[in-house]
Amino acid sequence: MTLRLGIVLPTYNERGNLRGMVERLDAALAGIAWEVIVVDDNSPDGTADEARAIGREDPRVRVIQRIGRRGLSSAAIEGMCATAAPVVAVMDADHQHDPALLPGMLSAIESGDYDLAYASRFAEGASTEAWGRPDRVKASGLANRIANKVTGVELTDPMSGYFMLRSEVLRADAHRLSGVGFKILLDILATVEQPLRIKEVPMHFAARADGESKLDRTVVFEFLVGLYDKWLGRIIPTRFALFGTIGALGVVVHMAVLAMVLGLFGAEFAVSHYPKETAFIAGQTTAALVAMTFNFVLNNELTYADKRLRGFLPLLTGWVRFLLTCAFGLLANIGAATALVRIGFNPYPAAIVGIVLGSVWNFALSSKFVWGKY
Ligand code: GDD
Ligand code: MN
Repeated sequence: MTLRLGIVLPTYNERGNLRGMVERLDAALAGIAWEVIVVDDNSPDGTADEARAIGREDPRVRVIQRIGRRGLSSAAIEGMCATAAPVVAVMDADHQHDPALLPGMLSAIESGDYDLAYASRFAEGASTEAWGRPDRVKASGLANRIANKVTGVELTDPMSGYFMLRSEVLRADAHRLSGVGFKILLDILATVEQPLRIKEVPMHFAARADGESKLDRTVVFEFLVGLYDKWLGRIIPTRFALFGTIGALGVVVHMAVLAMVLGLFGAEFAVSHYPKETAFIAGQTTAALVAMTFNFVLNNELTYADKRLRGFLPLLTGWVRFLLTCAFGLLANIGAATALVRIGFNPYPAAIVGIVLGSVWNFALSSKFVWGKY
C-alpha cells in the first residue's frame, strides 16, 4: 500500500489524549495508508515520550520533538514538511476534531477537484454547542469577519485548525509562511499565490478531552499580531514592533510615576517652580524602575509569550537581566545623542536617534540575554 495521507498532530501537554487519537485515526482510516507526525514542543508532561512509546508498537506514529521552541503554526509547518505523503492534514490532538471527517476530505482532494479541504465550525450543518465556550465562539466570529476582509477569501471559518491539502502546495510556499501564532490555515490562504479550490466540510466541534486549551488567553491578540506580521512584518519585524510599542507605553508610565513622585514633594515644587534636585533624582529613579519593570512584564507576556519566563527565580533573573540590558541601552542612547550634538546636531533629532539606537540595542540584547539562550 502506498502512503496516501500524513496527519500532523501539533502537541503541547497532550499526553493523555494521544493513544486515543491514534486508535480513532486507525478506525476512521481503515483501508487508507496513513502516518501520524506528532510535533511536540518538548511538553513538560512527557507527550513526546508517550508518542515514542506508541510509535514503537505502531511505526506509523512518528515524532518531531522541538527543543526551545513554541508555536502551533510553526509546529504544523514543520510537521507538514516532514511527511512523504502526497496529502497532509493538520488537526488538534485533543479530540475536538472528529477523525471521521478525514476520508471525505481525502477523497475531495484525491478527486482532483479541490486543492484544500477544511472542517468548519460555523458552516451550515456545523455546531459548537458541545465545545461549551460561547466566549470563544464570539471571538472566533469577530476574527473570522476580519480575516475574510483581509484575505478576500470568503470562508465560514478561516481560523479552523482542521484542514488538509496536497503537500506539494504547502512545500511550494512553506518558506513564505509567517509561522507566527496559531492561524496557520489563514496564513496559508493569505500566502499561496495560485487560487485554491477549497472544500468546506461542516464539523461538530467537540469539547477538549484531556488537559486544557493553550490558545485561551491571547486568541484575539495573537490574531492581530498575525495580521500585522503578514502586512508589515517584513518591513518592521513583528517582535520589534511589539517591543517598541511597549517601550513607548513605558515612557508614558515613566512620566506618570515621575509626576506622582514630584507631587509628593509638592510643597517645594510650588515654591521654587522647580523640584529640588533630590526630588527629581528620586522621581526619575523610581519612574525608570517602574517603567522598566512594566516593560519587562509586558514583553514577557506578549512579545515573548512563546518563551515566557515563569516561576519566581526565572522571573527574578529575567528582570535583573532586563534592567542590565536597559542600562547599557541607555548608555548607547546617551552616547550617540551626545556625539551628534557635539558635531552640531539639533538636540531633538539627536535625542530621537539616541532613543532608536537604545531601543534597537535593548531589543537585540534582551532577545538573547533575557528571553533567549545566552
Ligand atoms: N507543538 C505545539 N506547540 N503544539 C501546540 C502549541 C505549541 O505551542 N500550542 C497548542 N498546540 C497544540 C495543542 O496541543 C493542540 O493539539 C492543538 O495545538 C490546538 O491547541 P488547543 O490548545 O487545543 O487550541 P483550542 O482548541 O483552544 O483552539 C481551537 O481553535 C483555534 C481557533 O480559534 C483549535 O481548533 C485551533 O486549532 C484553532 O486554530
Ligand atoms: Mn483544541
